[in-house]
Amino acid sequence: MTALTLENVSYTYPGGTSPVVKNASYAFEAGKLYAVVGPSGSGKSTLLSMLAGLDTPREGDVVLGEENLRSLDLDKYRREGVSIIFQAFCLLPLLTVRENVCLPMEMQGIPESAARQQAAEALVKVGIEESKHKRFPSALSGGEQQRVAIARSLCSGAPVLLADEPTGNLDGENTKIVMEILRRLAHEENRCVIVVTHDPEVAEAADLVLRMKDGVLTEG
Ligand SMILES: Nc1ncnc2c1ncn2[C@@H]1O[C@H](COP(=O)(O)OP(=O)(O)OP(=O)(O)O)[C@@H](O)[C@H]1O
Ligand SMILES: [Mg+2]
Repeated sequence: MTALTLENVSYTYPGGTSPVVKNASYAFEAGKLYAVVGPSGSGKSTLLSMLAGLDTPREGDVVLGEENLRSLDLDKYRREGVSIIFQAFCLLPLLTVRENVCLPMEMQGIPESAARQQAAEALVKVGIEESKHKRFPSALSGGEQQRVAIARSLCSGAPVLLADEPTGNLDGENTKIVMEILRRLAHEENRCVIVVTHDPEVAEAADLVLRMKDGVLTEG
């Protein structure tokens, strides 16, 4: 089943002279783990932000199932349709680790006690022990903050999960753990998981590898 489709998508930044994403078309399926690889500056994060509904293509369309994102409520899409692990984590500094993980669930109306329990389980799954759940993100290492961002995403029931360099700050062992979790989300929960990465080990774990070069997206 197709989860998310790019149809001739191009993007030029405001004030920019040439597109950084050029006529990208691809059908991402549910139940699969994708890796998007390519040199720095090739347009990977820009592509991800359009899949995330954070930016709108200048030309072409992003389609969720049968619905064009242009006609969807994008706030709702970002809340329920898609979960994002950002390159820069985007944890809220004034919320504790646990509160950061709980926030999207609370925004979806999940009761606090259930959200807390799910958050605690997800944090332990990514290797953040209970004693750290009440800390603020600034009191964690970079790799730990990255795993908190991953735990936050695990708790979302969204059908699409997007991750920008989710293992960029992790050692080999934690990279394996995170990739195993992402694979399971795709294969056992039928989510569409798309990971942007420079790491060959991450690309290896994916079902399909896409390449970005100078804004052009190709498979294989
Ligand atoms: N806000 C912006 N305004 C103008 N140009 C931008 C902006 N953000 C990114 N760019 C440019 O768009 C191009 C693609 O950037 P993008 O962040 O998508 O690359 P990337 O493939 O994710 O790179 P990296 O691997 O380094 O994260 C780059 O040339 C970059 O300089
Ligand atoms: Mg990037």
